[in-house]
Amino acid sequence: MLYRDPCVFAVGKEYQIVFNTKEFGIAWVEVGEKQYRDSFGGLMRSETLVHRVALPMPELDKAGKYTVCFRALPERKPYFPELGAEQRREYAFRPIDFSDGLQAVMLADTHSNVEAPTLAADYFGDKLDLVLLNGDIPAESKQMSDLLAIYDLLSNTAGGGRPVVFARGNHDYRGRLAIEMPQYIGNRDGHTYFTFRLGSLWGIVLDCGEDKNDSNVEYGGLVDCHRMRLEETDYIRSVIERAEEEYLAPGVETRICLTHIPFPSRVIEIGQDPIFQIEHDIFGEWTHLLNQMQLDVMLCGHMHRLSVTEPESELARMDVQFPVVVCAEPHMVKGVIPVEGDEPHYICGAFEVTDGKVTVHAVDDHGKATLLWQKTKSE
Ligand SMILES: [Fe+2]
Ligand SMILES: [Fe+2]
Repeated sequence: MLYRDPCVFAVGKEYQIVFNTKEFGIAWVEVGEKQYRDSFGGLMRSETLVHRVALPMPELDKAGKYTVCFRALPERKPYFPELGAEQRREYAFRPIDFSDGLQAVMLADTHSNVEAPTLAADYFGDKLDLVLLNGDIPAESKQMSDLLAIYDLLSNTAGGGRPVVFARGNHDYRGRLAIEMPQYIGNRDGHTYFTFRLGSLWGIVLDCGEDKNDSNVEYGGLVDCHRMRLEETDYIRSVIERAEEEYLAPGVETRICLTHIPFPSRVIEIGQDPIFQIEHDIFGEWTHLLNQMQLDVMLCGHMHRLSVTEPESELARMDVQFPVVVCAEPHMVKGVIPVEGDEPHYICGAFEVTDGKVTVHAVDDHGKATLLWQKTKSE
């Protein structure tokens, strides 16, 4: 019935359970006594291979399990449709467990590769609380196998049993399926920028859009990112207006920003082509607004190499007041840098909050971990 495991995306104060089926049909998710049905406008959706339901986080946290239910429907007849037998699959779900601190892996720039990123993401084993996907997970959105690579990767890492937060990257904007891609991930009414809250962790997810101006010949007029960024500025402002319900809410202890492109760092300038130097005013405004959110760290990808930008360091720009950690390094055969022999094929970020410290280790697919960045939390 299912293509790989469902994904439990965290958005705002809800989980969005998204899953792919192998044939058309109707679907719903059961949690305890309640049914969450994949319907729209009074109708069960059936002529689709991707289904999604949303439910309040406390319902699933309390139940600790959910059941995905499906009935095949090859033809949607107007009268007396003939549905297949009910198929059910139960999944155990473990909400973030802070008793031993927070353990999360961050993957970015996997570019449709699955094997090496899966090995790197195994670092915390069963202690894993959360999977952060930070852009360029599919190589592009050009064919269904690219979008399904999200599910291959998340089946191997979160396995339907851990929450996931997904930030979109610039490569996700490219190809025939780019416009449908947000239906395959967590989104806020279609928007790919949002906040989330998981236990004492609060986060804001931003979508920088494409990495060159909308007018770039490469896009042929198919992108409209400038307008999205302006709307996103309004959204970030609205988060500050609701600070008491967001990053200043009772119980919040750790605050992160997850975004693909490290815009407050000069790493996007040094040695880079001028075509990538875009939207200085908008990204400057975002940085100014994010400075008010008491962020512990901003986690990024995109550069295909590791870097740390501390406030007021040489790499800092736009008056950034929080650290920016870039922690994803692909060296994959299908990626841009082929590797030979026993060299690491992929490096991910292992993000940990424990004993008053926030830490990012760079972890390769051989399991080798190197401390990249650490800070002691002030009381
Ligand atoms: Fe990338
Ligand atoms: Fe990128």
